[in-house]
Amino acid sequence: MTDDRPALLGTRYDQLARNTIDYWMQPDAPTLSQPQLIEAVEHAPALHDASLRLYLHVPYCAQRCRFCAFSGGNSLDWKQAEDYATLLVQSLKDTWGRTAMRGKPIRSVNIGGGSPDLLGDSIDRVLDAVQALPGFGPDTELGVEFTLATVRPAFIDRLVAHGVSKVSFGVQSLDPVVRGYTRQPKTLVHLERVLEWLDGRIPVVNADLITGLPGQTREGVAADLDTLIADPRVTAISSYLLTVGAAPALVAAIDSGKTPPVPAGLEQALMRLETYGAFRRSGWIRRGTNTYVDPRAVPQNVLSRMAGDECIGASSYETFLLGIGPQAVSSLPGVRLENLVDVEAWSDAVRRDALPVCVSKCSTVHQRDMALWTFPLRWEGLPRARWEAMQDALSPGQVQTFEALQHEGLITASEEGFGLSLLGEVFMGQLVRDLKADDGRAAVDAYIAEGEALGHAASRGNAPDVNVLNNRQHAHRWLRRE
Ligand SMILES: C[S@@+](CC[C@H](N)C(=O)[O-])C[C@H]1O[C@@H](n2cnc3c(N)ncnc32)[C@H](O)[C@@H]1O
Ligand code: SF4
Repeated sequence: MTDDRPALLGTRYDQLARNTIDYWMQPDAPTLSQPQLIEAVEHAPALHDASLRLYLHVPYCAQRCRFCAFSGGNSLDWKQAEDYATLLVQSLKDTWGRTAMRGKPIRSVNIGGGSPDLLGDSIDRVLDAVQALPGFGPDTELGVEFTLATVRPAFIDRLVAHGVSKVSFGVQSLDPVVRGYTRQPKTLVHLERVLEWLDGRIPVVNADLITGLPGQTREGVAADLDTLIADPRVTAISSYLLTVGAAPALVAAIDSGKTPPVPAGLEQALMRLETYGAFRRSGWIRRGTNTYVDPRAVPQNVLSRMAGDECIGASSYETFLLGIGPQAVSSLPGVRLENLVDVEAWSDAVRRDALPVCVSKCSTVHQRDMALWTFPLRWEGLPRARWEAMQDALSPGQVQTFEALQHEGLITASEEGFGLSLLGEVFMGQLVRDLKADDGRAAVDAYIAEGEALGHAASRGNAPDVNVLNNRQHAHRWLRRE
């Protein structure tokens, strides 16, 4: 911490986390080969406490939101959707079939993007294939994302017909000025229309919000929350902290003055604090990394299915999180697989029956300490038994940090295990970073620094000022010119 940046809210931190979604990064592995990766996937052990979670990515979107961290491979050519649905199912079956968890119960399935609604009728093929997997059952959470401006009533009808338990869509901010800065449609007519179409037919209706956007104020954040919490048609809200370094197009827009800067540290911290405060005051409960649910509006059997996997990263070393589709990331015991971002390259690889991954961005490191640093992201916290079973995997520094964070009131302890205080939730990303081992932390920092460098390159004219910069597998192309 520097002298001129005071600690925020009496904590050890002088800023909020610079990263909120890419904690699972590992250093690049330039010498890894496809056969080594396949072997690691096929030998990843199904250990005690293993669970199977699926994430299916749909890389189509009609919008180009400046903050979007998921649009690196997004294609506007959704006429190919039918073909893509077939390849997605093929890749899912191939990856799933190689693992020791094939046939085991599936905890959750999330279909996200991009805009899965652009699959149109082809969503049936994806949902049918998922529901036909042995292991998919009444306890499996089934969630689908869509974009408000492009989703059609017929798509929602298909989700209802398949018994989808959760839908999720981005709102980010209700303020037209902030929406304009982010390149979202300024009008809210789509939100109103979609909430009418949904009309109580899907139990979890989740609106995504972001704090820390250019032009946002604490009052604006509080007003958005009040409006959405009071709307009986919205039963869950995810409030994310903006990761600027995952969105080079936003960095470029701020550099060049097209948008105002993002709110400063204290303002941001208070936005987070007040957000979690508003949820708790309204009796909403945490059921995901940044997701709160109204427990009176969601039936108990649906609530108990909510896995809290919206951050699309594994929760522990034992977890099999299979991320399928361009840009999606899988995490298995001893393997991290990063799919090719480029949609064409990914599709070609699947057609050739090759593993459609960017090998140098994958890793075969055994992250046995994962449950320690992911627990701030998990609504269920860290059970004491898991903490005790993990001792051999931790460095003395990690144990010391864990104890210090309890002492400082950011982590709470009980007989059952460990959780976050309200202040801990505000700084959850910083806790993850602090609890990681040194090499993992360095990889995350490097990822964020690269994102910021790409944004600065764009504002100097050395890279295109568009979301294609989110394809980090091509980052060297632009940074070489700097
Ligand atoms: C990628 S979108 C997919 C859903 C859909 N396309 C939509 O936006 O309506 C999922 C959510 O991720 C969040 N998100 C995207 N980029 C982010 C970033 N750089 N930092 C924090 N959250 C981000 C947004 O809240 C967004 O609604
Ligand atoms: S955040 Fe915006 S650009 Fe990104 S996937 Fe959603 S609608 Fe598309």
